[in-house]
Amino acid sequence: MRVTITEIKEMKQRKEKIPMLTAYDYVTAKMVDEAGVPLILVGDSLGMVMLGYESTIPVTMEEMIHHTKAVVRGTKKVLIIGDMPFMTYHISVSDALSNAARFIQEGGAQAVKLEGGEVVAEKVRRLVDCGIPVMGHIGLTPQSMHQLGGFKVRGKAVEEARKLLNDARILEEAGAFAIVLECTPAPLSKLITQKLAIPTIGIGAGPDCDGQVQVISDILGLYTDFVPKHAKQYARLAGEIKNAVADYMSEVKSLSFPTTEQSYTMDESLIKQLKAES
Ligand code: KIV
Repeated sequence: MRVTITEIKEMKQRKEKIPMLTAYDYVTAKMVDEAGVPLILVGDSLGMVMLGYESTIPVTMEEMIHHTKAVVRGTKKVLIIGDMPFMTYHISVSDALSNAARFIQEGGAQAVKLEGGEVVAEKVRRLVDCGIPVMGHIGLTPQSMHQLGGFKVRGKAVEEARKLLNDARILEEAGAFAIVLECTPAPLSKLITQKLAIPTIGIGAGPDCDGQVQVISDILGLYTDFVPKHAKQYARLAGEIKNAVADYMSEVKSLSFPTTEQSYTMDESLIKQLKAES
């Protein structure tokens, strides 16, 4: 039985912090699930950290569904949230419904996430009415990077802070079960967290959110093109992998790999026979 959205909401009531991570593939998702993380986001950040795009903008539904399926196959307990890509929920409620339904029916996710506040509230309401749990996402919303003028902290000025608080309340009223706060000043995140009954999940939003989310490739030190200020590296796997690859190359070249240990045998008389025949 997977973690439910009710259990996630209860964690806030119990003041138990909620750890969430992104994952994009079978192997990694399996390890995250086995570690007991309750929420996995199949984030559209996969555009950068798995597919090498410059931003999340080019990510397609097909790519998201492909990765969501792999994450679902690798996991048993964790609640999986599919991240709706750019322009898959903006044009109409009907688009939002059919694309969200794909995450649930084809992908096997239990919930979806979409970016934006008041502007997406109607869509959130309709998805929730149709039985699709929705996680909101406000603050720095990477899909709007061209409109926002890049990746900057949001809500430092009072007007923008007021708008973010209002957006959070509207998303809660619309039925979102949790809200990601990305790159918002810690005191504002704390205020939003206190004002909502549903959990806030922060990324670069300070320690007072109900939960935290990180991109797995950042915390593992796997993605080194850009390391955000809010990411902490708990491992440096890129270095480990490069060392392992260098060791492999040098052993292949020096004939120390493979040895008999990694080789298969057969009856010597058969080889003699083949030699004689050829
Ligand atoms: O795509 C993603 O990884 C995200 C998180 C940063 C919240 O949206």
